[in-house]
Amino acid sequence: MQQPTSFRSLAAATSLALLAALPACAGRQSATASPLTTARAHVRDIHSFARPDEARVTDVALNLRADFEAKQLVGTATLTVDAASGAREVVLDTRGLQIESVTDGATRRALTYRMGEPDSLLGTPLHVSLGAEAPAGGRKIVIAYRTQPQAAALQWLGPEQTAGKASAYLFSQGQAILTRTWIPTQDSPGIRQSYSARITVPEGMRAVMSAEQLTPDGRPAAAPPGWRTFAFRLRQPVPPYLIALAVGDIAFRPIGARTGVYAEPSVVDSAAREFADLERMVEAAESLYGPYRWGRYDLLVLPPSFPFGGMENPRLTFATPTVLAGDRSLVSLVAHELAHSWSGNLVTNATWSDFWLNEGFTTYIENRIMERLYGVERARMLESLGRQELLAEFARFGADSGETVLHIDLTGRDPDEGSTQVPYDKGQAFLRTIEAAVGRERFDAWLRGYFDRHAFTSLTTADFLADIRANLIEGDRELEQRLRLDEWVNRPGLPSNAFVPTSDAFARVEGEVRRFTAGTPAASLATQGWSTQEWQHFLGALPQSLTAAQLADLDRALGLTSRGNSEVLFAWLRIAIRNRYEPAMPALERFLTTQGRRKFVRPLYEDLMAAGPWGQALAKRIYAEARPLYHAVTTGTVDAIVK
Ligand code: BES
Ligand code: ZN
Repeated sequence: MQQPTSFRSLAAATSLALLAALPACAGRQSATASPLTTARAHVRDIHSFARPDEARVTDVALNLRADFEAKQLVGTATLTVDAASGAREVVLDTRGLQIESVTDGATRRALTYRMGEPDSLLGTPLHVSLGAEAPAGGRKIVIAYRTQPQAAALQWLGPEQTAGKASAYLFSQGQAILTRTWIPTQDSPGIRQSYSARITVPEGMRAVMSAEQLTPDGRPAAAPPGWRTFAFRLRQPVPPYLIALAVGDIAFRPIGARTGVYAEPSVVDSAAREFADLERMVEAAESLYGPYRWGRYDLLVLPPSFPFGGMENPRLTFATPTVLAGDRSLVSLVAHELAHSWSGNLVTNATWSDFWLNEGFTTYIENRIMERLYGVERARMLESLGRQELLAEFARFGADSGETVLHIDLTGRDPDEGSTQVPYDKGQAFLRTIEAAVGRERFDAWLRGYFDRHAFTSLTTADFLADIRANLIEGDRELEQRLRLDEWVNRPGLPSNAFVPTSDAFARVEGEVRRFTAGTPAASLATQGWSTQEWQHFLGALPQSLTAAQLADLDRALGLTSRGNSEVLFAWLRIAIRNRYEPAMPALERFLTTQGRRKFVRPLYEDLMAAGPWGQALAKRIYAEARPLYHAVTTGTVDAIVK
């Protein structure tokens, strides 16, 4: 396990208030040794240049100005560095940062630094020489720098790319290894850092971060005329991929006592309605997995080009506006990001090969929260949809492919490549299988204990295996054999002991699909009262190939082309492309030019490119129009598809 290591003492580097807020962090060794002596070497993270066993960053203090004209963040990062005795330098991750100076925070004297050998994926290591003796309370180094306009973590949007079309917007997206494109720090999930920030933005804009807001109106902190400065602090140490910033015309609506929603003014009221259950979701998660340890839980609904569904930035989940269905039918996405407050943010994957510890646990917990709030049938439907997506992913890769291994080998690869359905849905299937084997009560007790034992640390897959063997299996040979943990973690495909989710509602939907394919007109199908999930399942279960008459019948009777629900429309548009149902193409074009969520955009372009010259021409025409709207994460993917 990765301890929040300190080379001097934890107390020296951490305020007493923080210690009080954090549970004992010694993990399973705490019975035999004190937390200060159990700190052990960091596991090697192949996606970072940092050498944390020699010198590690414990805190990041930013002072940045957002220059919307130049599309640059400009200012300083002051790093607190905890160095082993004899350490000569600290190695940081950077990518495309323009470093202007590095100085000693105490003496203000220049420090010697050099940029190492650049790597196209990892960026360029920044080696900073450390002075002879460290002052008490940690060494501070001040890096003056600016970001590049094309920094991969930052999207600078013009007003036309926002919902309100009136104000520019900026947001960051650090996961997996992009934080180094806007902050020079040790960008590894095993190196936890607290942070604070002063962010100066043009007057009229508001800055929000994944942190406590010290100046909600941007006033108390002195700023030059025409500018506002917002101050933030996150006391809990987090992996740097969770440091997040958004700047724009952002309004707020409270939901519960510690929950609320931020969004552009034109969106914020519908967002507040959509997420009315937010406070209850937090309560449900707490009752399952222990106290929510981050203070507030707010949502930020981003402009439509946000490339992900959601991002679990602490205290402030970032979310796509495509979840605003109007009927709360897609809020499992919020349950997912909230679940990361335990699995991911509290207990973090130590390397990107352990990503399934973040996403598999989270997908499992998401489903438990959904079950608590909306009942078992809704939860089983969601779980079944996830299993179908997993099996489709296996079919794409081949079930023997290394891509289907939970503990994935990412040597020489972008960690983004490991972000498939596998860590999510195979990870969830794994935990469900264990739950079914030991019973829910015992499993829940173990899982809750797991979060307490490892709170605010980063774990490897081996650490997970050691914990479950020590605290759940406890030497039960028969149980160990039945679970097949090593097969689950290290082998491709789905082990044959996998729990199989079933849904009565989906069985009925499949009956309607059979009636339709046997000739019953769409208008006579028993679709009344179907939930979004039932519609998704219906569309997914239709035959691959449909006649023009069947397509027209479905569309006329069920109004599919004019659906506003992004998931239902997406599923229908895939069918429409595959079968060249041209009346749906204007809706396809609208969908692809009004949002840039990669999960929707990628398959639609893939389908078009696979549909022959007709589809390829359409893909090229639409992409030419849509590309300027999309985030670099999305264009990076689609550029490789539409050629
Ligand atoms: N942390 C992920 C998003 C992510 C993963 C960003 C890897 C960058 C690299 C987030 O929690 C997530 O899984 N989002 C999903 C939605 C969720 C409901 C499955 C998404 O964005 O599709
Ligand atoms: Zn996730």
